[in-house]
Amino acid sequence: MFKTLKDFSVNGKRILVRCDFNVPIDKKGNILDDFRIKKTIPTIEYLVGQRAKIILMSHLGEPDGKVVPELKLDKVAEKLSEYLNFSVAKADDCVGPEIESEANSLGEGEVLLLENLRFHKEETDNNHDFANKLSYLGDIYVNDAFGVCHRNNASVSLMPQFLPSCAGLLLEKEIEVLDKVMKNPEKPMIAIIGGKKVETKSKFIDNISKVADFVIISGLIAKEVAEKKVIFKYPEKILVPSGDLGELDINEETIKMFCEKIMAAKTIIWNGPFGKFEDPKYAKGTLAIANAISDSGAFSVVGGGETVEFIAKQGMIDKFSWVSTGGGAMLSYLSGEELPGIEALE
Ligand code: 3PG
Ligand code: MG
Repeated sequence: MFKTLKDFSVNGKRILVRCDFNVPIDKKGNILDDFRIKKTIPTIEYLVGQRAKIILMSHLGEPDGKVVPELKLDKVAEKLSEYLNFSVAKADDCVGPEIESEANSLGEGEVLLLENLRFHKEETDNNHDFANKLSYLGDIYVNDAFGVCHRNNASVSLMPQFLPSCAGLLLEKEIEVLDKVMKNPEKPMIAIIGGKKVETKSKFIDNISKVADFVIISGLIAKEVAEKKVIFKYPEKILVPSGDLGELDINEETIKMFCEKIMAAKTIIWNGPFGKFEDPKYAKGTLAIANAISDSGAFSVVGGGETVEFIAKQGMIDKFSWVSTGGGAMLSYLSGEELPGIEALE
């Protein structure tokens, strides 16, 4: 198990925190949904309360080692300032002597946000020297970026080689919740897996089937399963929509069948919407599932970029027991894979 923030005295120290501020943005770089930013506020507020000097770092999008103006983190700094009620400074880069002196001149309780890590190719190349340069900025490294823990990126998987390290409050909570549903779920438990691309989900479906009583999969996944002759480990647990599997939304009969199972469950994991949910005309099935989960009173865990965007738009974020900041990371973790970011902390 990894160390957590409470294992360190952070007072007066420079705390370098890896966050996942990779939020959905429009073409001009305006933030469309700030869920991931909001979820890191407790960690930052804790550090402010402890009079630490706080240096935040993140990637945004895939700039491929170049400076892309729309992917600068200024708007993230503005959002953070709004939530924290004080001004968060924003650096022009994330490594180098100037940034080091900015980090060194931080006062206790002050926050500096570094520029997009992926403006340097070394970040995604998992470059050792780059991680070393980042480490000059802090005395302690905190990983609070669950959403990117499945990536072998320098700021995620190499930092613990250079600095005393621990998990932030958000990462700690993500792991606690996911472990709870995998190791000790209250039964009956059901998993609901929407979207498509069976390749990226079959390991997850197999692993979750070990503990779940039923696994509901979307029509598109079921269709691929049939076409590609995928064989699941626990086929008897898999429930698929009735009717034409290529439909743009699940039909009334399917909604009824799924909702009956959902209402009887005590633990529910949901990742991935159904059909062509992004078009309101075809969002009825996904919405019915969301409502049933919320009405069921079960311990519910929801994750995945599209699913979270959907429930955020519906104003339903607070209707679930835990909404994960991880998309790919949540799938990997629940597939039983080792995540580089977590392994590195251990
Ligand atoms: C995510 O949004 O899945 C994480 O922030 C990781 O980003 P990536 O998929 O661009 O590596
Ligand atoms: Mg992604």
